[in-house]
Amino acid sequence: MRHFLTLADYTKEEILEILELAAKIKKETKNKEFVKYMPNQTLGMIFEKSSTRTRVSFETGIYQLGGIGLFLSSNDIQLGRGEPMSDTSRVISRMVDMVMIRTFAQSKIEEFAKYSKVPVINGLTTEYHPVQLMADYLTIQEAGLDKDLVVAYVGDGNNMAHSWLNMAAKLGFELRISTPKGYEVDQTILDKALEMAKESGAKIIIGNCPKDAVKNATVVTTDTWVSMGQEDEKEQRLKDFDGYIVDSAMMQLAASNAIFLHCLPAYRGYEVSDEVMESEQSLIFEEAENRLHAQKGVMVWLDRHRNAN
Ligand code: CP
Ligand code: NVA
Repeated sequence: MRHFLTLADYTKEEILEILELAAKIKKETKNKEFVKYMPNQTLGMIFEKSSTRTRVSFETGIYQLGGIGLFLSSNDIQLGRGEPMSDTSRVISRMVDMVMIRTFAQSKIEEFAKYSKVPVINGLTTEYHPVQLMADYLTIQEAGLDKDLVVAYVGDGNNMAHSWLNMAAKLGFELRISTPKGYEVDQTILDKALEMAKESGAKIIIGNCPKDAVKNATVVTTDTWVSMGQEDEKEQRLKDFDGYIVDSAMMQLAASNAIFLHCLPAYRGYEVSDEVMESEQSLIFEEAENRLHAQKGVMVWLDRHRNAN
């Protein structure tokens, strides 16, 4: 049985296979063909943090596949009152067919997966956001930019930056990450990505100059400067990220056919300007919609690999 906890656990071929499946299911959905790939299956969705896109896309996705989603907020289940992950996992995974978790430390989702009888999907941890990257890459493929791809990530060295690192390292494209000093990506995650990049041929460039990163890039992307759980650091972060806004002047440095992506929610006037968000280059809402399609691909793929090692 396979879980979907980080892209680092997947091969290039597997990632592309899931994306191909996602594109196929998207096409069927657009044609109003709701193929029941997972009839009568239940997806448990555990949320220890807020969500708009992840909740709606997983709940709608499993329904469209013929199953049903159970929204389990940690405020309402015993997990929030201290029941261990290991017990929660052994109980819930005897009742549902698949589990998606949004939580804090990656070690918590790993703990859940260790005890789970069913596949577990990472719906965001402090370290990673792999399902978001599946949607982002699907959007890049649809825009026809997956050949000679150069991605510039400008902002915080957070879960999105780490997942971009993994995706680039696996698929072999060029990724330039620019963060302010003190907000760099995690060194262990970077080292692992650089190791994987040797096999794929990915070019990974880390720096502290957003303008250099964006120059001639075909995809420009960013994320909030204040992730969930960092609210206390907001004031300091807003100061430290000065000069990191992706605005029209920054986009001008990118390739003429460049697109702008953002996992959302976005904070206009901070990491991105209103003008860029609303520009023709911005594919943010296509990207958000692709959460639905990409995750259906992930769920169906995991369902098909239930009996695999
Ligand atoms: N991008 C994303 O995961 O959005 P939500 O926090 O709304 O789920
Ligand atoms: N980096 C953000 C992503 C939100 C979808 C966070 O973790 O809050």
